[in-house]
Amino acid sequence: MSANYEVRGNVAVITLDNPPVNGLGHETRKGITDGLEKALDDAAIKAVVVTGAGKAFSGGADIREFGSPKAIAEPNLLSVILALEASAKPVVAAIHSVCMGGGLELALGCHYRVAQAGTQIALPEVKLGLVPGAGGTQRLPRVLGLENALNMIVSGEPVASELLAKAPGQKLFDKLVDADVLDAAIALAQEKADVRPLPLVRNLKVEHPNAQGYLQFARNTVGAMSKNFPAPLKCIDAVEASMTRRFDDGMRLEREFFMGLMFTPESKALRHAFMAERATTKIPDVPADTPVREIRKVAVIGAGTMGGGISMNFLNAGIPVVILEMKQEALDRGIATIRKNYEAQVKKGKLKQDKYEQRMSLLGTTLNYADLKDADLVIEAVFEDLGVKEQVFKTLDEVMKPGAILASNTSTLDVDKIASFTKRPQDVIGMHFFSPANVMKLLEVIRGEQTAKDVLATVMQLGKKIRKTCVVSGVCDGFIGNRMIEQYSRQAGFLLDEGATPEQVDKAIEKFGFAMGPFRMGDLAGNDVGWYIRKRRYQEKPDMRYSKTADLLCEMGRFGQKTGAGWYDYVPGKRDAIPSPVVNDMIEKHRKALGVSPRKISDEEIVQRLVFALVNEGAKIVDEGIALRASDIDMVYLTGYGFPLHRGGPMNYADTVGLFNVVQAMKRFAKNPQDDASFWQPAPLLAKLAAEGKTFS
Ligand code: NAI
Repeated sequence: MSANYEVRGNVAVITLDNPPVNGLGHETRKGITDGLEKALDDAAIKAVVVTGAGKAFSGGADIREFGSPKAIAEPNLLSVILALEASAKPVVAAIHSVCMGGGLELALGCHYRVAQAGTQIALPEVKLGLVPGAGGTQRLPRVLGLENALNMIVSGEPVASELLAKAPGQKLFDKLVDADVLDAAIALAQEKADVRPLPLVRNLKVEHPNAQGYLQFARNTVGAMSKNFPAPLKCIDAVEASMTRRFDDGMRLEREFFMGLMFTPESKALRHAFMAERATTKIPDVPADTPVREIRKVAVIGAGTMGGGISMNFLNAGIPVVILEMKQEALDRGIATIRKNYEAQVKKGKLKQDKYEQRMSLLGTTLNYADLKDADLVIEAVFEDLGVKEQVFKTLDEVMKPGAILASNTSTLDVDKIASFTKRPQDVIGMHFFSPANVMKLLEVIRGEQTAKDVLATVMQLGKKIRKTCVVSGVCDGFIGNRMIEQYSRQAGFLLDEGATPEQVDKAIEKFGFAMGPFRMGDLAGNDVGWYIRKRRYQEKPDMRYSKTADLLCEMGRFGQKTGAGWYDYVPGKRDAIPSPVVNDMIEKHRKALGVSPRKISDEEIVQRLVFALVNEGAKIVDEGIALRASDIDMVYLTGYGFPLHRGGPMNYADTVGLFNVVQAMKRFAKNPQDDASFWQPAPLLAKLAAEGKTFS
């Protein structure tokens, strides 16, 4: 049973007890209705209090039940709420800590609500592509008014109970207390024991002086902001029904929307991402109770683009940082950039002046390795050159205290090789941040051959503390993300060779949902970066084919926005990408040199070749054990590469298309003379799943 029953005087207390957040799984729901029945049958009981054990009232539906028959088995949440509402004895909800989703809907079915200050109140269903499904859209407007309720339902964001308690005319809480919410609820239950009729939220009316005008405004704003997602607009429709329809009709409409959205690819993608995010922390041979090392102080080597951003993450989390550079000028430049970033945040009102000063006071600088000896973790972010890294790691091995973690932010070099420069390879790990490192959510955690389990566990935990999505990757060239993007870029190049323009490729993939196509992206990041990597990589793999257009572009000095010209032309001071006749001419000449007569390429082919290239390489990465699971790859792409969220990541997208269809498309691409037939051989895992009619998930 995951709800407890106890008697306090003449009040029955039903306590949800389903850690960690009292999710409303089947047993908990049954526990509530059983408890209620017992209370109703006992003549000595005058009233009932419902509360939650531990650190939540209730976080809502039990995600472990998602998609299983248990999720809808009776008593389902709607039945539980109806039973509470229909109770002949008053029911009081004692709300504390977290009250979200189904938890809030449950509380709204009770006759009275007492809340503790500091409780996070939310209906977050929209974040999973859904509308609240157990009366939230009908009952919340009745207690909070149209505007407050709509904001909460459309955003899904939590609001603190003490703020809601101040909303004019609110009927959400009958009482707000600073502590001892259960005692306060029991007292209220006793006070109301004989008061009849029992107040029901369903009997309240939603009023607004200009509802139609307000709803129109909301539809315009929400429609523009959530183009790829149907749920937010459905939330508005459902909330509108709380005004315009009878309660039970509104409930039916809400249910209809809920069921309809449940099967949309957008909601499936969001639910996939939600579960995938949670799965990233699970490492089969490193259990959750693996001991971790304490990280009280961090050192960063190199105050360049990455070093500065990396440092900010720790300063933001209140962890002291010391940055080491070779020259004072480099340090000064790095610190000035950090200041500039913080000052921009202060100017925008996103950071308070005192917080900014507090963060800067945690930052130290040095030119001397001896000053790093008390750091618990050092992250190297120097030039991407194995010789330089060797020097740095040899020195770190000499100066760092025993047990300190030595991390590298390398994006392309072999972490095992770097570890071998030290006499403590078990303490070496990769922490691959993405640029800008203080903004991007993704942190690829590179587990070396010899990385100790507690080192991995420590870095994963620390990554969470600095609010990153941490994905474990084994050692390989490019790790998960960059190894895949290389195949995506190769396809983008082949498309130019075959007849597409950079603009056409970018537009097609942007329409699919990427924030930026590969060529605009190249211009932003600097085309010389890829040039440098290709020079090294294709020396190692001389038979790997790729379009030479990218090299020709760099030979023209067109490195991108920083040189004022790249795949596109740029007007000084502006970021608009203007199609370039010079570049198109270069591409045409290159085609002629290859003897290719250009063909018209459909947007569909462009999208499939770019995305399925990611999928095939991704399948190899899972097969080789570089990624722990396909959903980890989706998280890398959603949080680090701007893959459209409503598609749920490349592997989830492939599942949606159907792996059989993906394989068929690859077979077609392999026949294309300009493409790389060997690349399009489906990865063994992909071929196997497709043949068995299965999916990556
Ligand atoms: P950067 O050139 O902006 O900064 C490197 C800094 O390291 C410079 O300030 C330089 O003075 C300093 N440095 C060089 N040798 C040093 C030494 N021996 N001791 C102390 N300081 C030294 O380079 P960036 O872009 O910050 O890259 C650093 C590392 O991060 C590289 O390994 C790179 O591959 C990796 N990385 C870069 C990303 C990017 O988008 N820029 C993304 C992810 C990783």
